[in-house]
Amino acid sequence: MKSPIKVAVTGAAGQIGYALLPRIASGAMFGPDQPVILQLIEVPFEKAMKALEGVAMELDDCAFPLLSGMVLTDDPKVGFADANWSLLVGARPRGPGMERADLLKENGKIFTAQGAIIDEVAAEDARVAVVGNPANTNCMIAASKARRLTPDRFTAMVRLDQNRAQSQLAKKAGVATTDVTDIFIYGNHSPSMFPAFAHAKISGKPAREVINDDAWLMGPFCEIVGKRGAAIIAARGASSAASAASSLVDHVRSLFTPGSIHSVAVKSNGHYGFDPEVWAGLPVKTTSPGAFEVITGFEMCEFAKSKIAATNKELVEERTMVADMLG
Ligand code: NAD
Ligand code: LMR
Repeated sequence: MKSPIKVAVTGAAGQIGYALLPRIASGAMFGPDQPVILQLIEVPFEKAMKALEGVAMELDDCAFPLLSGMVLTDDPKVGFADANWSLLVGARPRGPGMERADLLKENGKIFTAQGAIIDEVAAEDARVAVVGNPANTNCMIAASKARRLTPDRFTAMVRLDQNRAQSQLAKKAGVATTDVTDIFIYGNHSPSMFPAFAHAKISGKPAREVINDDAWLMGPFCEIVGKRGAAIIAARGASSAASAASSLVDHVRSLFTPGSIHSVAVKSNGHYGFDPEVWAGLPVKTTSPGAFEVITGFEMCEFAKSKIAATNKELVEERTMVADMLG
């Protein structure tokens, strides 16, 4: 039997947490023979901790063979102790009419504290995945507080955007989602993100040739993917939760699986013309569990370059807005 992976999850009693925890405990994230210990972190209010107890009761009632233990806490030092993976979900979601950047000042401070505590108490091999919005900039804030853990340990989720793009291309071409490959997200988890359709393939052929509708790809396709989060809030009255949880399972599973090629927001280090200090969605290849290299060398046309410049500009503006929280 393998020794358990310790997975800390913030916002564990929230909407995403409710959809996420059974997937982790069932083995969907780390594999069918990998036990896990869930370290569940909530805010120090009776209502939140009571709700968390209820979630834990339900996890008990699932009798998951791989769930080796649970910790329920409102103390991040306890919750992140020795964690191999820290999934930072807990933050306020946006409501109708808001952009994700509107959450920056309020949510950003959560990540200053959590970045420092993870750096202090998490495991030697600690990896962090940020979901709470605005995810790229919150991830940058958390990473800026770390002295022990290097910036590559901190990733933010753009996998939901990749999955959305994959699904839209499949629908348009009338094929299964599994026929669509090589669609990667560049930039911010915001409407400015760029789903680079020119590199996507459908059943191994360029998606552009199969779809044969550049006007749709450059216009409605980018718009639908970029504004999908707002469309879900408008329809559901609450922000995406099941798809966000499922995409976080994909994000971590792909980062855990050597050879996987996928989109992750990472410190750009200047790749594809991004400011070196921002966390931008980029295509990566997992090299060993939790480690990756950015896939370089995709040719960008003028349209793609202008989209990347726009999303980079927004990331730099967000960084300026939180300058007082960095370092
Ligand atoms: P929710 O309001 O249902 O749950 C959030 C939970 O986080 C609450 O239980 C709250 O008590 C808890 N929380 C708040 N601050 C915390 C802290 N400092 N420590 C621990 N727990 C804390 O929200 P949700 O629908 O689960 O969404 C959570 C976040 O994820 C939001 O910011 C949302 O915008 C974001 N999100 C991101 C993506 C993405 O693709 N990156 C997708 C969907 C949602
Ligand atoms: C999403 O993309 O669904 C989430 O980031 C929630 C939101 O605010 O759009």
